[in-house]
Amino acid sequence: MRPKITYYGHSCFSVELNGKSILFDPFITPNPNASMIDISTIQPDFILVTHGHGDHTADLVPIAKQSKAQVISAYEITEWLSGQGIENGLPMNIGGSINLGFCTIKMVKAEHSSSFSDGSYAGNAAGFIIQTSESSFYYAGDTALTLDMQLIPLSFNLDFAFLPIGDNFTMGIEDAVKSSKLIDCKKIIGMHFDTFPPIEIDHKYAYDQFSGAGLTLILPLINQTFEL
Ligand code: NI
Ligand code: MN
Repeated sequence: MRPKITYYGHSCFSVELNGKSILFDPFITPNPNASMIDISTIQPDFILVTHGHGDHTADLVPIAKQSKAQVISAYEITEWLSGQGIENGLPMNIGGSINLGFCTIKMVKAEHSSSFSDGSYAGNAAGFIIQTSESSFYYAGDTALTLDMQLIPLSFNLDFAFLPIGDNFTMGIEDAVKSSKLIDCKKIIGMHFDTFPPIEIDHKYAYDQFSGAGLTLILPLINQTFEL
């Protein structure tokens, strides 16, 4: 079954895989570009969180509470969540994998920082690789271009990848193209762009850079659902 993807803006996506839905980095209500989305309708089975920054966690607590989804994240983030009354976290750390039955999830390194808006420590920033019997994909989180990405294709044959391309806080367009080569993946979904003025991008330039390198870039529209 092909993964069904819905974009909620910034770096927030839901991916439906084998009848289960995984939500990544919930940040919707503070995003003016995503004002058409009613978060009470979002009922994931799992929520994956890459790091503690507000633009990845703003709606984490309400969506985790309403959906009773299991939150998979760094140990420090699941500990912080238990302080908010969310007890069913599944803590991980970089390099580890877990098997959820319908998929396995590996937490990989991201070159970034991580803390909560209240100042508390949120562990190390991370990315995730999700693998089913039919497909695998990489959700990079917030990261710089890093040589560690070369390790990914040694173990995974990625069908597609979510990469940040907005620059300033993460990779920009050129580095995301280089990253696509390091991870050996030709189909890239851009994220972490256009939400705030410092990360606004030129869409035509982005498409040209990717197609010039033999890669396919998807810049999804907010509230759009598509299959890959
Ligand atoms: Ni961040
Ligand atoms: Mn961010």
